[in-house]
Amino acid sequence: MLLTFIKYISTYDYFENQTNLKWEIKNLMNICVVGCGYVGLVTAAAFADFGNDVVALDVDKKKIKSLSSGGCPIYEPGLKELLERNRKAKRIRFTTSISSAVHKSEIIFICVATPSKRDGSTDLSQIKVAASQIAKNINNPKIIVNKSTVPIGTGELVEKVINKNLNKPALFDVVSNPEFLREGQAIRDFFEPDRIVIGSNSEIAAAKVKELYKTLKCPVISTDLYSAELIKYASNAFLATKISFINSIANICETTNANIDDIALGLGSDKRIGHDFLQAGLGFGGSCFPKDLQSLLSTSIELKDPLKIIKEVIEQNRIRVPRILNRIIKRIGLSKKPRLYGKTISVLGLAFKPNTDDLREAKSIELCNAILKEGANINTYDPIAMKKAKSILKSKKVNFCKDPYSASKNTDLAIFITEWPEFKQLDLKRLTKNMTNAIIFDGRNIYDVKEMEKLKIEYHSIGRPSYYP
Ligand code: UGA
Repeated sequence: MLLTFIKYISTYDYFENQTNLKWEIKNLMNICVVGCGYVGLVTAAAFADFGNDVVALDVDKKKIKSLSSGGCPIYEPGLKELLERNRKAKRIRFTTSISSAVHKSEIIFICVATPSKRDGSTDLSQIKVAASQIAKNINNPKIIVNKSTVPIGTGELVEKVINKNLNKPALFDVVSNPEFLREGQAIRDFFEPDRIVIGSNSEIAAAKVKELYKTLKCPVISTDLYSAELIKYASNAFLATKISFINSIANICETTNANIDDIALGLGSDKRIGHDFLQAGLGFGGSCFPKDLQSLLSTSIELKDPLKIIKEVIEQNRIRVPRILNRIIKRIGLSKKPRLYGKTISVLGLAFKPNTDDLREAKSIELCNAILKEGANINTYDPIAMKKAKSILKSKKVNFCKDPYSASKNTDLAIFITEWPEFKQLDLKRLTKNMTNAIIFDGRNIYDVKEMEKLKIEYHSIGRPSYYP
């Protein structure tokens, strides 16, 4: 937890240091970034910061207008400042006009969304539109780089779409350069990557893309298109597998009174395993893991070689919310449905993880809907994501509060969903004093069980012994 906080603070310090860096790039390039979502904006801002001339493109006129006048459509620590610095230095501009953006650029990054279809496979419509628009405006040799997360074979698809839509014969190469940015620390991840993956069937195109990253000190993995595309899915699937694995072990802890913190420490201390992504909790959410696992599973089914392991990782993640809901009902609920009738529950933290206002696939939304279905009222608070949450949780039974203390007043139970640094600093005695029942459920193991024993507060967490005063 402390580590998360330190990381949060140092993200800002990082930008201060960046201001004084002198980039040694000799061959600066003209770059176009298609798509101003969080990957596109971070990529565009970072390449501009290297000294390149960047034009960022989006179909959303309102977004482009706001970006052009210094706005930032997403909450990502440090991004606004990075965009602003480069906008003022005239290294980045924003446009809705694809023709001018493509004409001027040697390298074009595709950073559009690749959402899931109903059947779990990937909706590539935005990729296809981007590729065909690029094709119609190609005037001289281009390198088209796919940064969006796309299933194996999409590079070839982009090539086909471009060839089909060219107005006149043109030279171009397609490269896959997947991103490994985490929301909430995307800028740091861009400037301090563990590795850069460049996949292409053209050595010259790959070398040119590699050149763009030359100031970064990390291994560059050069491979073919297919492998680069698959590295991205394999990475996210492996990390998600670690999470579902530790959560499954946490289930055993809950029935035996073993302690998941000690197990994660013992497990992660083996260098072959490592400590990262062994934090037990309510499971993974966000715009990447759930969608990417479905996509990988769907690809494997198409290839008639279903990845059963991924199916199970998804299933273990699915049962996290029903499991905690059952524990809540067992503690304060009724035997008949709606089993939380007449109760009020305080839900603390809504974002799918700290340092973001992103609510996509957030466990909070799933849990709130399940709580509402069981007849309870909800008081909730999140430091950043309240505005977005209001447009999703529209029930009159959800009350948005100004802080965790007011959100917990007169409630029967408080549950923490997101491990925001500010929650670690809460005065829990004050928080529980005004509750009808002073019961805390901690879905992210923010607090120490021993600390709760000292405070004499009833406390239930994930994979650790419960404490009853
Ligand atoms: C993830 C990957 O970590 C990035 O490398 C990748 O680039 C990105 O997806 C993407 O494909 O674009 P992100 O979704 O931003 O990044 O968030 P993570 O920090 O990976 O967390 C994902 C989820 O796992 C969160 O809900 C988090 O609470 C949960 N988690 C994470 C755990 O439950 N336990 C852990 O130990 C770690």
